[in-house]
Amino acid sequence: MKRRECIRTAVAGGMLLLALVLRLCGLLPLWGLFLVAAAALGTLWLALGYRVWHRLRGKAQQWFLFWNYALPVLAALPTLALVLDRAPRIDERLLVATLTGAVLAAIYYLIYPKPKNMRKKIVAGNWKMNTLPTEGIELARNVAAGRNEGCSCVNFIVCPPFTHLCGVIDALRGSDIEVGAQNCAAEEKGAYTGEVSAAMIAALGCRYVILGHSERRQYYGETSETLNRKMAQAFANDLQPIYCVGENLEEREAGRHFDVVKRQIEEVVYNLTPEQFARTTIAYEPVWAIGTGKTATADQAQEIHAHIRSILRKQFREAAEQTPILYGGSCKPSNAAELFAKEDVDGGLIGGAALKAEDFLAIGKGFEK
Ligand code: 13P
Repeated sequence: MKRRECIRTAVAGGMLLLALVLRLCGLLPLWGLFLVAAAALGTLWLALGYRVWHRLRGKAQQWFLFWNYALPVLAALPTLALVLDRAPRIDERLLVATLTGAVLAAIYYLIYPKPKNMRKKIVAGNWKMNTLPTEGIELARNVAAGRNEGCSCVNFIVCPPFTHLCGVIDALRGSDIEVGAQNCAAEEKGAYTGEVSAAMIAALGCRYVILGHSERRQYYGETSETLNRKMAQAFANDLQPIYCVGENLEEREAGRHFDVVKRQIEEVVYNLTPEQFARTTIAYEPVWAIGTGKTATADQAQEIHAHIRSILRKQFREAAEQTPILYGGSCKPSNAAELFAKEDVDGGLIGGAALKAEDFLAIGKGFEK
């Protein structure tokens, strides 16, 4: 549990204990005890819920949010019932109900001043063109074996080469580690020698696909036009894209990095429907940091991640608050915690360090510090 959550949980427990003692000494009316209990219960629920939230999907997330609000309200009902019982007149009842709501809101505000960042936390490994199939399966097994020691709030994804997908998916069966592909074809099917379609990937049990990686833009000439078609194929087959953006060194040095990522997002992500956007993850990978050992500083990452979120917000409004934006580029166990501590950095897309199970998992622990 994070320090902040521990403090909140301790405060909630302490409040409850104090209220119980005061009640036993006859210094607190029963409705007061109920009120404190409602606030404490809500706090505990939120502290616990924060960890659970990141593991939930779709409808389950919506139910979680519903109970997030409903539970504290339910918990406050006995207080209201008790007090209303003693207030026969309608104006007295209204006053009591309003006061109860206000006191409860104030207690929540004090304990829980700002809603937590509820975005999904993701650590995804892009294995690129590394490992032979047997080595890849071994790596996947080691990741699964070590996974339990890490925080359950982190979603781990591995993206092996196409040739390993079957074996890796088999090796990870029964674990909560998900699998993605590193690319998919822009076409549905047909005479496209050497290509692998989104339907083929999905049929194996993959949930994710990396699209627009700088290596594919640079070496295979992928343009926004191709990427629009690949995104459409991914969604048509129920795959969730991890869409990569990022500037090269020349663009960074010329101060054009903000414009570069803006264009990469506007030309592709802006074409998505709200439903498709809700299933998209963005990865910011500055080309000058990929495989170079040169990481963007945490402040540089935050600056551009916040910029990306503001571009997304322009088109998709508040839905942009839920989009995970991952950082990629020489991310390793030693710098993950500092990067992940930033408000808009929701995880990492890891290259070299994903090839060692220990390092990959240690990066996930960056969220616990
Ligand atoms: P490195 O972590 O090796 O720099 O690679 C990052 C990357 O390109 C992930 O997609």
